[in-house]
Amino acid sequence: MKPINIGILGLGTVGSGTVGVLRSNAAEISRRLGRDVNVFMVSTRNAEKAREVCPESTLVTADPFEVVRHPDIDIVVEVFGGTEIAKDLVLEAIQNGKHVVTANKKLLAEYGNEIFALAEQKNVMVQFEAAVAGGIPIIKALREGLAANNIRSIAGIINGTSNFILTEMREKGSAFADVLKKAQELGYAEADPTFDIEGHDAGHKITIMSALAFGTPVNFNACYLEGISKLDSRDIKYAEELGYRVKLLGITRKTEKGIELRVHPTLIPESRLLASVNGVMNAVRVDADMIGETLYYGAGAGSKPTASAVVADIIDISRLLTADPGNRVPHLAFQPSQVKPQNMLGMDDITSSYYLRVQVKDEPGVLGQIANILAKEGVSIEALIQKGVLDQTDAEIVILTHSTVEKNINTAIAAMEALECVHGPVVMIRMESLHG
Ligand code: HSE
Repeated sequence: MKPINIGILGLGTVGSGTVGVLRSNAAEISRRLGRDVNVFMVSTRNAEKAREVCPESTLVTADPFEVVRHPDIDIVVEVFGGTEIAKDLVLEAIQNGKHVVTANKKLLAEYGNEIFALAEQKNVMVQFEAAVAGGIPIIKALREGLAANNIRSIAGIINGTSNFILTEMREKGSAFADVLKKAQELGYAEADPTFDIEGHDAGHKITIMSALAFGTPVNFNACYLEGISKLDSRDIKYAEELGYRVKLLGITRKTEKGIELRVHPTLIPESRLLASVNGVMNAVRVDADMIGETLYYGAGAGSKPTASAVVADIIDISRLLTADPGNRVPHLAFQPSQVKPQNMLGMDDITSSYYLRVQVKDEPGVLGQIANILAKEGVSIEALIQKGVLDQTDAEIVILTHSTVEKNINTAIAAMEALECVHGPVVMIRMESLHG
């Protein structure tokens, strides 16, 4: 069979990794696919690097639009990054009848609906395994492996940079700012780390998974984002003393009232598998009605792991080229006519349990006042401990609550902060039991 021709937009970490995987595993890939994959053209401003990385026959251009317009290219691999030019490139590739593989989570979380609609109109496939959790085949699992199930919830450690920082904060007791500096020195965190540490990257990934799980359009605007930059290592220590780990989780859950979609630091019991996912590793837990809990663990970033996902998508597309478009796996897992908006819950309406740290005046009656406020809001206390005297007059109280609706906790916190005996803001971190 004639080789499949691919054109790669961008020769950075993932682009050059993709060429590397295709070259080093060429024989094994051909054994699986029944044909060769030919790196026909790449676009990069670094022609010298392209000549080092690519086969001699590969055409090199500085103009990415030349790739999406070339009549001999079957599949365009978009590893360009960003959204402005990348969106134009992807839409034009689709317009020209080319299949697309992209690792661009931001592009899909923000413009996925438009991209998939055009792809369906043009009968082409857009594959995006590398966009979520790097090398972990979670998109394949959600769209195909779990297709018999009603998915109930997904919770994932899906930002390696944040997980590295939280792991170091816990293991060394270091402050957030010091660990961030170390992560930047090690090359895990970007010079501008906002995207990773403020939850945006995880938000893009959980938004994509939520759409696949529940058959909704992608809706990044509905995703609540709270990062790790304000975490105090004291809370990580207290959480550990109480048998919990703090992780930045992307969470999506289907409830009777609507869909929860959120990213925030979360206390999880140390006995859960997710609690042992440390350093830059990623893991995604899916809870579904027939299979129960499944867990997917692996490298969420890096040249070869991400390229592994890109190449798997190239293989998938190549196998399905001649399939009737109606029989291909739908982009968002459900038939396009069945992808329907559902009520997305605001944070006031989500249900969670909570860790609260309150600085109080160390005097009789204080605990009673705090317990009364929680009782008034219908919040049940699971544990309440005094963590120690801060100075001659103040103490810290840590409270773990049972599950409640978030607006009740917010009302209770506002009431606590209004008490004369409470000093400074109350620290609140959400908790998830990750039970079935
Ligand atoms: N920057 C991401 C992370 C990897 O730290 O996990 C790419 O999404």
